[in-house]
Amino acid sequence: MCGVPADLESSPVRPGSAGHRRLLAQFFIDTHVEYVPERIAWPALSEAELTRLTGLPFWQEAVSTENVTSNTVAAAAEIEPDPQVRAAIALQGFEEQRHARLLTALTAHYGIPIEPPPPFAPRSLEDDFLFAGFGECFDSFFAFGLFALARKSGYFPAGLVGIFEPVMEEEVRHILFFVNWVASRRESLPWWRRPAFRIRCASIILKQVASRVKTARALGKGPRRQTAKPSENFTLTAHQDLGAGVTLHRLLHTCLEESDRRMSRYDARLLRPRLVPGIARVLYRLLPASI
Ligand SMILES: [Fe+2]
Ligand SMILES: [Fe+2]
Repeated sequence: MCGVPADLESSPVRPGSAGHRRLLAQFFIDTHVEYVPERIAWPALSEAELTRLTGLPFWQEAVSTENVTSNTVAAAAEIEPDPQVRAAIALQGFEEQRHARLLTALTAHYGIPIEPPPPFAPRSLEDDFLFAGFGECFDSFFAFGLFALARKSGYFPAGLVGIFEPVMEEEVRHILFFVNWVASRRESLPWWRRPAFRIRCASIILKQVASRVKTARALGKGPRRQTAKPSENFTLTAHQDLGAGVTLHRLLHTCLEESDRRMSRYDARLLRPRLVPGIARVLYRLLPASI
């Protein structure tokens, strides 16, 4: 799917090599899609559809998250020395900002009240980028499955599903870009600095896992809307809203299927996210189908 220069198509790519960086930047830039959120014709919704949409608990959090992510990613372009890869990171920042604009346009159109997001306060450009990227690896994986279930069940009207399909595909490209960027960044370091980089990544991943385990535990103790910030980690719980028969087991299966399907469209020489699908595969095998 992604346009790759002919001379790269058959050559092996080693993470961190010039060829890998070129492939990474090129795939991302070539698969960018143009759309303008402010020009979208939002579909008319029935009373019931509107009530369901406006009742979703995550709009405020979603706008704030996209705002933080877009600022984090845009700022991170500065740390990348390779001009092509830097341009790809800047483009990702633009896409994340467009997600925030899309949510703003949607909430304005359907009359969902949203407070302006808090001002962005960067800490460390690289750590913030790693934190946002690993968080997206978790959230996007579950979003792929939830989106497929929502599409099949008619939970959202087809018009809205069509509008959000490019957003899903952008999240596929973001996490694909991210895992390759992390590998490239690590390999470009002198050997003696790589262990510290791995440890930093591991500690950031653990923070992201801990946040999701906390939510899962809270859910086990009672109704979700009373136990956790309602919008937090919505992807872990939303399957319960998608109707009868949607168990966690089925959600995991759908996420794995959708992740493989969406990733298969991109150049096979790019590394694939392994951690989150790996955890999901283990859980899928261990959990009984009734859960
Ligand atoms: Fe996003
Ligand atoms: Fe993203």
